Amino acid sequence: MKSIIILGSTGSIGTNTLDIVQRFPDEFRVVGLTAGSNIDKLEEQIHRFRPKAVAVSTESSAALLRSRCADIRVDIMSGEEGISHVASFLDADLVISAIVGAAGLVPTLSAIRSGKHIALANKEPMVMAGKLMQDEARKHGVRIFPVDSEHSAIFQSLEGHRVEDVRRLLLTASGGALWTLTHEQLQDVTPERALQHPNWKMGSKITIDSATLMNKGLEVVEARWLFDIPESNIEVMVHRESIIHSLVEYKDRSIIAQLGLPDMRTPISYAMRYPARMALDLPSLELTEIGQLSFCKPDHDRFPCLNLGYESLRLGGTMPATMNAANEIAVEAFLNHGLRFVEIAQVIRSTMDAHTQQDITCLEDALEADRWAREKAESLVHALSH
Ligand SMILES: NC(=O)c1ccc[n+]([C@@H]2O[C@H](COP(=O)([O-])OP(=O)(O)OC[C@H]3O[C@@H](n4cnc5c(N)ncnc54)[C@H](OP(=O)(O)O)[C@@H]3O)[C@@H](O)[C@H]2O)c1
Repeated sequence: MKSIIILGSTGSIGTNTLDIVQRFPDEFRVVGLTAGSNIDKLEEQIHRFRPKAVAVSTESSAALLRSRCADIRVDIMSGEEGISHVASFLDADLVISAIVGAAGLVPTLSAIRSGKHIALANKEPMVMAGKLMQDEARKHGVRIFPVDSEHSAIFQSLEGHRVEDVRRLLLTASGGALWTLTHEQLQDVTPERALQHPNWKMGSKITIDSATLMNKGLEVVEARWLFDIPESNIEVMVHRESIIHSLVEYKDRSIIAQLGLPDMRTPISYAMRYPARMALDLPSLELTEIGQLSFCKPDHDRFPCLNLGYESLRLGGTMPATMNAANEIAVEAFLNHGLRFVEIAQVIRSTMDAHTQQDITCLEDALEADRWAREKAESLVHALSH
């Protein structure tokens, strides 16, 4: 039996992970859970999965949870420190890293430093400090298994092959909720409209990232560090159906891909039980029913955020962390109706233009770039707010 800790257990990835645990009670035991502020859902999860320890963002939420879970033996902690404590001090075989955004960096790094293998959904830490995370993972003998469907597809397509034989990684992109809109139509897009993803049901931040194509920009950076492939060998193509989750082209021009219906439980379960595959009771992909699959190039004029991902990698150092932080601020402002959709890219662009990148030699360098960029992006949002 594998013991697991889930960081971000109340979110979309977290609840999909617990769905797998529930389907395979003899294979997994939940020892730790963490959440932000959704204590109703966390309370329900505590009663159902009986973890040894949990943590939430604030002490007031923790106090409320303690009073609601007085009948159960569970340690309830709070703050980033409490979440990192759950990630690192409990004995566990695997940590599912599924907090959204930069808030996952410190806990995920703590888990790595405590020698636990990681199933990584939370891509933003890899964007902020990919080299540092990989260096720490190597130092502590930790494996990082990708959960993001594209990176899981690449991971699976690389199995049994040599990285030196790879010619290109081809990441697929659904195009998100707004792919068919004209430049003019994009000006007036509401958050409600941008949240209507055609294929995936995900948290709001990543759904907006999909609509701007920033998600693909973040994934290019994530792929660079997960697979140690330079950005010049990573390409993106739009594939609206989200059936081919990504592809690897080898030197002999063979292409190996991984396909499946869009359901995150497939890549999550692969990361949880690697190298075994779990017998998931899900619908099969019937290609004869789908009939046709489509592919096209990304449109960088309407969706400039993808290129920012490439640019951040070329500039290197703290630039990806800066881009990531500016994106988080801009997306939050858009979701709160404080910024227009097309201004998300402008805020990120201007924040990156104002930043002088430096090397990341330690965690504090990444956190400092994150702090700086948040402040800068907030002032830009304020100046643009209507
Ligand atoms: N959803 C997907 O299908 C998918 C696919 C690929 C990759 N990912 C990546 O996986 C990560 C999670 O995505 P998601 O869609 O599951 O997000 P989500 O539904 O918004 O869930 C985020 C989780 O993080 C917690 N959280 C938020 N802010 C926090 C903070 N400051 N401190 C501690 N915990 C915090 C939330 O707690 P509360 O619920 O209490 O707020 C929740 O448990 C993201 O990095 C995303 O890019 C997601």
